[in-house]
Order: sequence, then C-alpha cells, then structure tokens
Amino acid sequence: MTGTGEAQCTTWRCLPPIFFLVALIAWVSPAAAQTEETVCIQCHGSQPGQLGAPVREWRTSIHAANGISCHNCHGGDPTDVAMAMSPERGFLGVPDEKSIPGFCGRCHVGVKEDYLASAHGRALGKGGPQCVTCHGNHAVQKASPDLINPKDCSRCHDYGRAEEIKSAVLETDRRITELERQLLSLRHIGIATAEMDGELFALRNRFHRLFHSVDVEKVRSQTAGFQTELGKISGRIAEIESKLNRRKLWGGAMVALLVGCGILSLLIYRSYRKEI
Ligand code: HEC
Ligand code: HEC
Ligand code: HEC
Ligand code: HEC
Ligand code: HEC
Repeated sequence: MTGTGEAQCTTWRCLPPIFFLVALIAWVSPAAAQTEETVCIQCHGSQPGQLGAPVREWRTSIHAANGISCHNCHGGDPTDVAMAMSPERGFLGVPDEKSIPGFCGRCHVGVKEDYLASAHGRALGKGGPQCVTCHGNHAVQKASPDLINPKDCSRCHDYGRAEEIKSAVLETDRRITELERQLLSLRHIGIATAEMDGELFALRNRFHRLFHSVDVEKVRSQTAGFQTELGKISGRIAEIESKLNRRKLWGGAMVALLVGCGILSLLIYRSYRKEI
C-alpha cells in the first residue's frame, strides 16, 4: 500500500499536498503556538519587577504549553504595540478578587459552575479562596491532589476536612494515572490509542473538576460511577495486552517449530549420509 503511494509521490502532482501537509502540521503543532512572541510578551519581558515577572512565570505554565497567552486571559491586541492595552481592543486589565472565577471560567466553564455552587464559592469575597488562591495566576501547573496539602489548606480552617476530601479523590486519581501510563507504553510500541486517550482525558477532567464542590459526600457518591467507566477502559487495555501476548506465544511456537524442523532435517541428513 505505502509502496505505491511513495512511488506516485515522486511525480510533481504530489508536491502541493505535501506543502499543504507541512503547513497544516506547523499550524496545529502546540510548539508553534507556544513560541509565538506577541507584543505583550516582548514589551513585558523587557520590563523590570512586577511588570516583567508574569512573563517569566507564565513560560513554565501549562497555559504556555497549550498556547494560552497573555491576551487570551487579559484581552487586548497582541499585534499592535500602540493599541495593545486599549479597552477598545478588548483589554480587560487585572481582575479583582471577586471577578477572578468569571475571568478564568470563560474557558473552565464546568469548574466555575462547581466552584460557585460550593462552600468556597459562597464565601467568595468574604474570606473564601478563589482560583488564584489555589492555582496561582501566571505559573499555573497541571492539577493534581498534591494541591490539597496542610500548608495551603489550613490557612483558613483546620486540615481535617481537606484531608477527608483528599482521601476520597486519591484512589480514583491513582487509577487514572496508572491507565495513562499503560496507554503510553502501548503507544510506544505503535498501538493506536487515540480514542481511549481522548476518553480518559475527558474523564480525568470531569473527575478533577468534581473536587471544586468541596463536598465529601458528593465526591464519594460519584466515585462509583467513575470507577465503572475506568473499569471499561481498563478492560479494553487488558484485551489488547492479551492479544499481544497471544501473538508473542504464536511467534514463540513458530520459532520452536522451525528449530524443531531444522534439527529433524539435520538428523535425517546425518543418518542418510551414514547409510551411503
Ligand atoms: C510597549 C509596552 C507594552 C506592551 C506592548 C504591553 N504592555 Fe502591558 N503594560 C505595560 C506597562 C508599562 C504597564 C504599567 C503601566 C500601565 O498600566 O499602563 C502595563 C500594564 C499591564 C497590566 C496591568 C494593568 C493594571 O491595571 O495594573 C496588564 C494586565 C498588562 N499590561 C497586560 C498586557 C497585555 C495582555 C498586552 C498585550 C495585549 C500588553 N500588556 C502589552 C507595557 C506594555
Ligand atoms: C491564565 C490567565 C492569565 C494569563 C495567561 C496571564 N495572566 Fe496576567 N494575570 C492574571 C490574573 C488572574 C491576574 C490577577 C492576579 C491576582 O489577583 O493575583 C494577573 C495579573 C497581571 C498583572 C498585574 C501584576 C501582577 O502580577 O499581579 C500583570 C502586569 C499581568 N498579569 C501581565 C501578564 C502578562 C504580560 C502575561 C503574558 C506573559 C499574562 N499576564 C498572562 C491572569 C493571567
Ligand atoms: C481550594 C482550592 C481550589 C480552588 C479555590 C480552585 N481550585 Fe481548581 N483544583 C484544585 C485541586 C485540588 C484540583 C485537583 C483535584 C484532583 O486532582 O482531583 C483542581 C483541579 C482544577 C482543574 C483541572 C480539572 C479540569 O477540569 O481540567 C482546573 C482546570 C481547575 N482546577 C481550575 C480552577 C478554576 C478556574 C478555579 C476558579 C473558578 C479553581 N480551579 C478553583 C484546587 C482549587
Ligand atoms: C483562554 C482560555 C483560558 C483561560 C482564560 C484560563 N485557562 Fe486554564 N487552561 C486553558 C487550557 C486550554 C488548558 C490546557 C488544557 C487542559 O488541561 O484543560 C488550561 C489548563 C489549566 C489547568 C490545568 C488543568 C489540568 O488538566 O490539569 C489549570 C489548573 C488551569 N488551567 C487554571 C486556570 C486558572 C486558575 C485561570 C485563571 C487565572 C485559567 N486557567 C484561565 C485555558 C484557559
Ligand atoms: C482563603 C481561605 C481558604 C483556603 C485557602 C481554603 N479554604 Fe476551604 N473553606 C473556606 C471557607 C470560608 C469555607 C466555608 C465556611 C466554612 O465552612 O468554614 C471553607 C469550607 C471548606 C470545606 C467544607 C465544605 C462544606 O460543604 O462543608 C472543605 C471540605 C474545604 N473548605 C476544603 C478545602 C481544601 C481542600 C483546601 C485546600 C486545597 C481549602 N479548603 C482551602 C476557606 C478556605
């Protein structure tokens, strides 16, 4: 199949599709989005102190890695130095404490809903934590239960209730991490896992957002449903692995058969020579 495709592609007719493909890869690749230097980054990057710090912190963040830049959060025009921070170009400035959930929630819609309905959301502006209290602003990292720790969660109340919700999420989180590892090793040996990757990613996000309810009972009652869905993915991985093992077994049997045939023909050959 691929042989004929390559043969056809030596003709001039294949050049435009190849150029198109290269352009498409460059366009969708996250590396391209990540390195785009907007006027916001250029100017703030050269500023001292508090004006330059966001650039350095943001560069190591999960947002930078996913192409979410200054203007995606703060608005404004990333291509025009003079008008960059003009409200006419949609510049939002710095959100105050109370508007931060809405600010981040433009993209993290589900998290915002769970948060606003929670004890934390109800205490917004009255001593309760908001998104930046727990995740930081510019150096946001991939979320994990490590964010639930005595240092960060006992600033306003005792750690006991935080610990309860942590133990409720930990088992499911471990299982998700284990499945991510298994899918990665299947990918390494060339098995297509895109569909399962997508399912697991969506499930992981749905599960991690559940934390924001800070409702131990809710987390516990929904855990069973998540475990069932994880069980299905786990079952499909096990099926692929057993197929691979069977293939290995067949391969082994074939090798043994060939070796056996070899030895047999050698013996026949020797006894035949003796007879002569
Ligand atoms: C030519 C340099 C320059 C460019 C380009 C620039 N900024 Fe700024 N920015 C500054 C300076 C200087 C300040 C502080 C003084 C001020 O608020 O005007 C600032 C302030 C800010 C603040 C804080 C505002 C506040 O109310 O405290 C934010 C947020 C910000 N910039 C984001 C951006 C974003 C997003 C972009 C691109 C769309 C951008 N900047 C482009 C120089 C720049
Ligand atoms: C994920 C969204 C997000 C991104 C991306 C982001 N910011 Fe911010 N930024 C915020 C929030 C939220 C605040 C308010 C922080 C607070 O209240 O703690 C803020 C505050 C600021 C401030 C005010 C000073 C400060 O540190 O509090 C400046 C200046 C600023 N950002 C510039 C930038 C620049 C330049 C970039 C791009 C390198 C950028 N921001 C990218 C969310 C973001
Ligand atoms: C009290 C601390 C706290 C507050 C407040 C908080 N988070 Fe989280 N967030 C966490 C923890 C802890 C996790 C990881 C939970 C887990 O691993 O199960 C998380 C997970 C996440 C995730 C990953 C899950 C997903 O759906 O992709 C996102 C995104 C997120 N938070 C955004 C936000 C936003 C936006 C806000 C404000 C509306 C917010 N968080 C408020 C602590 C907090
Ligand atoms: C313009 C859209 C946008 C805005 C605004 C935004 N984010 Fe994000 N955020 C993303 C994208 C895209 C990702 C990477 C994909 C993912 O993991 O969901 C991400 C990832 C995250 C993660 C890691 C999620 C994970 O899977 O572990 C956290 C935590 C997070 N953002 C918190 C915040 C906080 C806090 C704010 C506000 C200060 C914010 N985000 C504002 C788009 C946004
Ligand atoms: C900035 C202060 C602050 C921080 C930091 C904070 N909380 Fe809270 N938390 C509150 C307030 C305020 C309430 C609601 C009033 C109350 O119940 O005391 C609350 C309530 C709770 C509840 C009880 C919810 C209910 O429905 O009864 C849990 C669980 C909880 N927080 C977990 C955490 C965890 C986990 C962290 C760390 C990731 C954390 N909190 C960090 C202020 C905070």
